[in-house]
Amino acid sequence: MPLVNTTKMLIEAQSNEYAVPAFNIENMEMAMSVIDTANKLASPVICAVSENALKYASASTYFGIVQALASDASVPVAIHVDHAESVPVVLRALRAGFTSVMIDGSKLNFRDNVNITQRVVDFCSPFHISIEGELGAVGGKIDYIDSDLLRYTNPDAAADFVRQTNVTSLAIAIGTAHGIYKDMPKLDYGTLDLIRSKVEVPLVLHGASGLSDEQLCTCVHKGICKVNIATELRQAYTTAIREYLDNDEKVYDPKKYSLVAMKAVSEVVAQKIQVLGSDGKCR
Ligand code: G3H
Ligand code: ZN
Repeated sequence: MPLVNTTKMLIEAQSNEYAVPAFNIENMEMAMSVIDTANKLASPVICAVSENALKYASASTYFGIVQALASDASVPVAIHVDHAESVPVVLRALRAGFTSVMIDGSKLNFRDNVNITQRVVDFCSPFHISIEGELGAVGGKIDYIDSDLLRYTNPDAAADFVRQTNVTSLAIAIGTAHGIYKDMPKLDYGTLDLIRSKVEVPLVLHGASGLSDEQLCTCVHKGICKVNIATELRQAYTTAIREYLDNDEKVYDPKKYSLVAMKAVSEVVAQKIQVLGSDGKCR
């Protein structure tokens, strides 16, 4: 299938009470695991590429890999730039062919966040590119996030933000954080309910690695339509390679240990798809 944007897939998820997973991919192996597993489980899927990943390999490299894999798949696949903090990063992704962008102005004050998001919406919309904004701030530290601050999303401000920017989806902060949790986070479901009652566009949950299945299901039940997962994939990939190399000092063929890493990533992908309820939706 040709690549798609994320607008229709998220609206469908919203109407049918499931969430589309957005998996951060770093390389070809992770993209292969994500798309192959989504295809086997008949789930729509979003391949997310972070701003830092775009420093590791070019936007057109990621695009080429994802486009080739998607063309062999029979489920909708989107390629999305994750946590872009500036207009040039968005433009680089767009020129490469990305179908969806996140403009993350969450470190800015409300007015400046609205301004940068509006600008991105203005030049993306004519090309049918989906645009995710963020209001509030997801906590934690991942390679592309340098803030330790968690600021819960204010429901009225969220409604105002969506009205002023016309984003197609909104990332909200209800207690999750990027990276590895030291303690199980307590999610503010009351705030999620309020945001859902005031905001019509699909809502996005970041920092989903390490949440329990029950927390994820509750978030989906309460209106989250897209769930971002990066850390658990990285952990699965790296742990599998580390174990393989520890057990076999003589191996020198990357295909050997990459296959093991891909299997580990696929297991996480399959499990998340099932918890989010997106399996079987694209038969
Ligand atoms: O944008 C990416 C996600 O929010 C990643 O969150 O570190 O919990 O996997 P995670
Ligand atoms: Zn995130």
